[in-house]
Amino acid sequence: MNLNPNRQIENSDLKIEVVDLHMAYPINGNSIGAKVLDGISFSVKNGSFVSVLGPSGCGKSTLIKIIAGLLLPTQGIVKVDGNGIKGPSSDRTVIFQEYGLFEWKTVIENVEFGLKAKGMPKSARLDIAQKYIDMVHLRGSERKYPRELSGGMKQRAAIARALAVNPECILMDEPFSALDSQTRLLLQEEILEIWEVTRKTILLITHNVEEAVFLSDRIILLSNIPARVSHDINVDLPRPRSANLRFDRRYRDIADCLWQSLRSEVKHDEHF
Ligand SMILES: Nc1ncnc2c1ncn2[C@@H]1O[C@H](COP(=O)(O)OP(=O)(O)OP(=O)(O)O)[C@@H](O)[C@H]1O
Ligand SMILES: [Mg+2]
Repeated sequence: MNLNPNRQIENSDLKIEVVDLHMAYPINGNSIGAKVLDGISFSVKNGSFVSVLGPSGCGKSTLIKIIAGLLLPTQGIVKVDGNGIKGPSSDRTVIFQEYGLFEWKTVIENVEFGLKAKGMPKSARLDIAQKYIDMVHLRGSERKYPRELSGGMKQRAAIARALAVNPECILMDEPFSALDSQTRLLLQEEILEIWEVTRKTILLITHNVEEAVFLSDRIILLSNIPARVSHDINVDLPRPRSANLRFDRRYRDIADCLWQSLRSEVKHDEHF
């Protein structure tokens, strides 16, 4: 398989463009620390499912926070629909590993929160919240608090909350990594079903090779810190995808190839 680091996207229908991002966190507010991102550029087509895969600690969360508008880069810009972002927006919702639910609100109150903040009347927002609660298979748990939910249920509620505000893009930072392996596989299949229906642009951060191959149209592989784009590959596997895909030779070939690349990045890190 050919892993081409400099592949250009020809389609002009781009949702997200990341242009030459550099990042170094300030130390004590004034001096600049070591580089975390070192000139990251890539773009994401409208309605596609793209994963950013990289070794542990390479700067993946830093990258997604910048794309979400939660963090300013040292240099470079992020464009959405051709316009430079100016901060966070409900068009780009983020799902984090730790679910980010309000502990004092029930599932339905969490899911309707963004709609309430937008001033939507109660009956309309409850209808929408219920639609997404059903979509993530949480019907019956509407009145439960996060403490009464399993990890998988919490992440389902977080997904429903992200979908309820009808964002253009969903940014996910290792959303399945706190889950047991069975729940993780189930939720991967569910997120694919949701994506097939909604066709949102999804950018997933992961360090899990198999997850990236199973879910994505495209995978951006990052180097070790300071992160650069080391490979940018198309995943030309048929859709819709089911668990059986994992036994497909083409799936295994892509995963093996990515593993080799990721392993060489990890081996270059003296901490491993
Ligand atoms: N707020 C911060 N201030 C200073 N340094 C930070 C800050 N956040 C992250 N870093 C540093 O930036 C580097 C990259 O961190 P980041 O969390 O982006 O990596 P990651 O790839 O998401 O890691 P992981 O695989 O553990 O999720 C690390 O060296 C980390 O210590
Ligand atoms: Mg991270």
